Amino acid sequence: MSLTKIACVGEGSLRGGGFQTKPKEQVLKSIVLRGYADAAVDLIEAYEAVSSAELFAPVREHLPSRPVQVLDIGAGTGRDAAWFAAQSHRVLAVEPVDALRNAGMARHWCSRLSWIKDTLPELSQTLALGAKFDLIVLSAVWHHLDRDEREAAFPVLRLLASDGGKVVMSLRHGPGVQSRPVYPVRASDTEALATRSGFAKLGETHTPSAQKHNQTSGVTWTWLVFQAA
Ligand SMILES: C[S@@+](CC[C@H](N)C(=O)[O-])C[C@H]1O[C@@H](n2cnc3c(N)ncnc32)[C@H](O)[C@@H]1O
Repeated sequence: MSLTKIACVGEGSLRGGGFQTKPKEQVLKSIVLRGYADAAVDLIEAYEAVSSAELFAPVREHLPSRPVQVLDIGAGTGRDAAWFAAQSHRVLAVEPVDALRNAGMARHWCSRLSWIKDTLPELSQTLALGAKFDLIVLSAVWHHLDRDEREAAFPVLRLLASDGGKVVMSLRHGPGVQSRPVYPVRASDTEALATRSGFAKLGETHTPSAQKHNQTSGVTWTWLVFQAA
């Protein structure tokens, strides 16, 4: 497969990172990540075909207008991470699946975009950097975590968020792909977990799926925006 390199505005050099994550212990988490690895060749093109501007339209009013530090967790091919980097933000893209992360690093070429191999809910490699982020994005990731993992993830997100920093996340409702298991998720449960970790809800929007085949199978999304107190 040939990959087109896409440079973000005003950039010329590829910057990429490589951090080794610890072995995955949880079987279901491994199944999800294996599912993404096995389907990566098809997913890469499908993910890159989505317009980040259209995807984030439901939460546009909550996105930063001045350059900030952005963390994109479960970044896939880095489509959105590169979109944020092209808007002058400094972006760290977190992606545990080698095939997706490597494709993203090869395709998106920008000195404001770095990559790290890491996994929710621990995000131990990311935490070890000691950085704070003004915007944390979790697009189409949360449904892969079970309740315990979601509960464990929010305190970690709070540690990674700057005071006043925002978390923008999309929750998937509807059937998933068997090889990449999903768990049911409710906005109200998610808000309760967020509140316990020191976030306040700023917004909630419901949308149809951006992808045609998901529209057909009845997948819908809830976008939630939280702010760290
Ligand atoms: C549906 S894809 C979304 C990718 C990208 N955010 C987008 O919107 O195109 C889900 C992504 O979450 C990642 N992922 C799944 N489980 C994860 C976990 N426990 N920690 C971090 N990332 C995870 C997958 O590797 C995959 O890249």
